[in-house]
Amino acid sequence: MEIPERIQEAGGLEPGVARAVARATGVPEAEVYGVGSFFHLLAEPDVKLRVCTGLSCQLAGAAHVLAAARDAGLPAAGCSCLAACDVPPAVLRERRVLPAVSLADVRRAGSDWRRLASSAEPADDAWKGVVGPDRDDPETLALNLLGRPDFSGAAFRQAREMGAEAVIAAIEASGLQGRGGAGFPAHVKWKGVRSQAETTRYVVLNADEGEPGTFKDREVLLRRPDLVLEGLAIAARTVGAAEVYLYLRGEFEVPWGVVERAIAECEERGLFPGVAFHMHAGQGAYICGEETALIEALEGRRGMPRLRPPFPAQKGLWGKPTLVHNVETIACLPAILGRGGEWFRALGKTEAGSKLYCVSGHVKRPGTYELPLGVTLDELAEAAGGYEGTLKAFSPGGASSGFLPAAERRRPLSFKALAEAGSMLGSAGVVVLNDTVAMPEAAAHQLRFFEDESCGQCAPCRIGTRYLRESLERRQAGDGRDALRRAADAAWQMNEGSICGLGQAAPLPLTTALRHFPEEFES
Ligand SMILES: Cc1cc2nc3c(=O)[nH]c(=O)nc-3n(C[C@H](O)[C@H](O)[C@H](O)COP(=O)(O)O)c2cc1C
Ligand code: SF4
Repeated sequence: MEIPERIQEAGGLEPGVARAVARATGVPEAEVYGVGSFFHLLAEPDVKLRVCTGLSCQLAGAAHVLAAARDAGLPAAGCSCLAACDVPPAVLRERRVLPAVSLADVRRAGSDWRRLASSAEPADDAWKGVVGPDRDDPETLALNLLGRPDFSGAAFRQAREMGAEAVIAAIEASGLQGRGGAGFPAHVKWKGVRSQAETTRYVVLNADEGEPGTFKDREVLLRRPDLVLEGLAIAARTVGAAEVYLYLRGEFEVPWGVVERAIAECEERGLFPGVAFHMHAGQGAYICGEETALIEALEGRRGMPRLRPPFPAQKGLWGKPTLVHNVETIACLPAILGRGGEWFRALGKTEAGSKLYCVSGHVKRPGTYELPLGVTLDELAEAAGGYEGTLKAFSPGGASSGFLPAAERRRPLSFKALAEAGSMLGSAGVVVLNDTVAMPEAAAHQLRFFEDESCGQCAPCRIGTRYLRESLERRQAGDGRDALRRAADAAWQMNEGSICGLGQAAPLPLTTALRHFPEEFES
C-alpha cells in the first residue's frame, strides 16, 4: 500500500497524519496512532534536535548543550543513548547523529536547527569512531575493523560446499556466543531453527543498538558491511531461509546508506543467490533491541516483548521459525568458516573468540577495540590510551550491567566472570567513571533511562522504574532518610515479575551503587 509522499515527509504524527495513513492503508486510525505514538521519533515530530542524555554524554556536558539549544529557541529535547558515546555529547539532527557537539556549534546555528553542525565532523565525509587495535597481524582478529571490505563471497561459497551440518559444527567448535547481550551459544539457535517442521523460515539482523555505552555495531556496519551481509547469507543458507530482514535503528542514517550500497553491490555481483535482503528502519525505541519486541515492530505493531516460550527459533517473525542475531555475532561468521572454529575459539582469553569492546567515559581514547574475550578493564583502558583521572567505578556492559567499583578492574570482562560479580558483559559497552563522578547522580541517569524506555506492558517494570527513580530523587533532595529502604524489595519484584530483561536489569544501577558505594547515599 502506497503512503502519499506528503505524509511520508511529515516524518511523524503531525495532526492529520494518522488519519491520512489510515485512509491510504485501510488500517484503523486508532491502530495507526497507537503504533506511531509508541516510537519516540514518530511521536514528537516537532522535535528536530535530540541531545543524548546517556551517561557518557552527560559526563561531557550534554545538559549544557541542551540548555543552550533551548535558550536559543531551537526545537530541542533530550533523548536516550544515540550509540555515539565515544564522541560525546552527541546530538541527533532529524535522523543524523552529529558527534561531539559543542556550545560554539550551537551558537553558530543561531535560530535555525538545520544549521546545527558539528565542527568535529569532517564536512565531506561521515564521521567514524576510533577503532583498534591498530595491528599488522589480522590473524588475531575475527572482524578487523581496519581491514578492507571484501566482496568476494568466498566464505559463502565455502559454506555452500561444506553443507549445513558442517557449518553448524564449525560454529559449535568456535564457541561463538551471541554478542547482543545474552551470550547464548549461537549453534544452539541455528540447530533450533533448522529442526523446525515449518519450512518458511527467516533470518533477522538486530542492528537496533541502543544499550547506553554501546556503539560497536555502528562501526561494524560502517566499516565492514561485507562481513555482515556475508554472515547473514551464510546463516540464511544454513538454516533454510530465503528472506533476511535487517532492522537498523532509525538514528543510523549514515550506516543505513553504507549497508544499502553494500547490498546493491552484492546483488550486482550475484554473490548470494537465493537470499533476499530487506531493510527496516526502527523509529526510536530502546526496547525494540529485545528480539521479540523487534519482531513485533517488524510486523508493524508497538514494540512490546512477547512471552516466551515459544522462542523466535520456534515461532518468530509472522509465526515462522526465525534466527535473530546481533550484528557482531553475524559478522564473526566469515572468519570462523575461513579460518576454522578452533582458530576463533583460541582468540579468546577466558572465553571463546575476540570481542568488540566499546569504551567511553573517562579514558583518553574512547572507541571500539577488538580484543581477546576476557581482557580486564585495565587492559582495555590501556588499549584506549589510559584512564582520565583516578578510576572510581565502571559499568562493564551498558546501563543494564549496573556499576562495579575500581577494585574489580582486574576481573575478566567476560560473560561468566561478570555474572559471578552480580553484573553482566551484555553488549560490552564499558563506561569508565573517575573520582569526580557522584554515584547517586550516575545511578539517577540510568534509572531515568529505564523509566523512559519501559514499554509499560508489565506493572512491576512500569511502576518500579518510576518508583526507584522517585525514591532516589527524594533521597538526593534530602527528603526522607528511609527513601531507599524499599529499593531492594522493589528490585526483587521487578526481577520476578517482568517479562523481559529491561525490567529485570533496570534496578541494577541503583542496587549496585548502593552496594558498592553506600557512604555516598548516607548524607
Ligand atoms: C531490553 C533489551 C534490549 C536489547 N537490545 C539489544 C540490541 O540493541 N541489540 C542486540 O543485538 N540485542 C539486544 N538485546 C538482546 C536480544 O534480545 C537478543 O538476545 C539478541 O539480538 C540475539 O542475538 P545474539 O544471539 O547474536 O546476541 C536486548 C535485550 C533486551 C532484554
Ligand atoms: S519488563 Fe518492562 S520493558 Fe520488558 S515487557 Fe515488561 S514493561 Fe515492557
